[in-house]
Amino acid sequence: MEIKYSKIANSLKASEIREILKLSEMPQIISFAGGMPASETFPIKELAKISKKVIEEDGNIALQYTATEGYTPLRETIAKERMTKLGVKTSAEEILIISGSQQGLDLIGRLLIDENDTVICENPSYLGALNAFRLNNPNLIGIPMDKDGMIIEELEKVLATDTTVKLIYTIPDFQNPTGVTMSLERRKRLAELATKYKVIVAEDSPYGELNFNKRTLPSIKSFDRDGYVIFIGTFSKILCPGNRIAWMCAKKEILEKLTQMKQAVDLQSSTLSQRIIYFYINKYDIEAHIENINTLYLKRRDVMINAIESFFPKDVGITRPSGGLFIWVELKQEIDTAELLKKALTLNVAFVPGKAFFVDADKRNFLRLNYSSMNELKIEEGIKRISKLLTKYYN
Ligand SMILES: Cc1ncc(COP(=O)(O)O)c(C=O)c1O
Repeated sequence: MEIKYSKIANSLKASEIREILKLSEMPQIISFAGGMPASETFPIKELAKISKKVIEEDGNIALQYTATEGYTPLRETIAKERMTKLGVKTSAEEILIISGSQQGLDLIGRLLIDENDTVICENPSYLGALNAFRLNNPNLIGIPMDKDGMIIEELEKVLATDTTVKLIYTIPDFQNPTGVTMSLERRKRLAELATKYKVIVAEDSPYGELNFNKRTLPSIKSFDRDGYVIFIGTFSKILCPGNRIAWMCAKKEILEKLTQMKQAVDLQSSTLSQRIIYFYINKYDIEAHIENINTLYLKRRDVMINAIESFFPKDVGITRPSGGLFIWVELKQEIDTAELLKKALTLNVAFVPGKAFFVDADKRNFLRLNYSSMNELKIEEGIKRISKLLTKYYN
């Protein structure tokens, strides 16, 4: 068989790491690899009740096609509740329901990027976004980060010299993979730079409400005077990812284009899922639900950090996120974490090697640990197993 694939399909390569990480799904593995929310937090009974009711009482609509923009009451609730919490005054007209924030990233790529246009992101950044943008053959530039997020002076250097920049992609809250949060000052500055250089900022915030200090910073979108910021939010991490319901908030004229794009891609997001999420939010207390999730994740983060401090060699560097799902670990320069993963799997423990999160640099001595999906006993045991592998490099 000889299939004449497109250039882009031909350019896709199987990832060795992805193949290895499939092993981490085996039940005996203590996996810190995925970015999964804890499934024991899903409100299963409540969602089962609502699903039954929505289908029985409203099935002729809930199982039918619907408008591409999404279910209006859900759009109104998102505008009024979720966006207000982030300091954004908006209305249903500026909200598009999408099938996971991942679809938002795909649509933004299609909306803005022509071949060789520059896309700027944090370095390291979320691999799923980089891969979505790569489908449009951009020139990806990674901006280094410090404890306050993307270093804005470095960003401005690129904006001042590269006239082909079309998009700045950022995850300002408890970033994937580092857990780092962008400071208030930098959020304001980034919104200003977007206007100054007339470049769209995609603000991807799946973790913003997973905040252990209850000190939610205003979103970049809240400082956006001229409509250059597109905000992407999702129910994946604050409720459950399986419904695939998320949203984009953008100025009306941009949203109309995104809606046309979405229509071509999948017509609409699931009518049924949208209604289930809407009725859940209306009948139950989602704020209390998010607080419960945060209590659990804070406990797990503490167990992981305490275990790292007790068992890892002293000069291993880690981030200490006050929200989200991930800790980012820097090991000695000579340690290749892809090789370390192979050894870790023989001890039935897994993590993600850091290399794939970097845009260009070949950095092999980082790894990402997820603390949300394993229970406390497994977290401690898994960290002990990884530390056994590390000690031999540090003595
Ligand atoms: C930064 C970031 N953006 C987007 C996504 C995709 O989330 P969703 O389930 O809403 O598609 C993830 C998933 O882990 C993520 O970490």
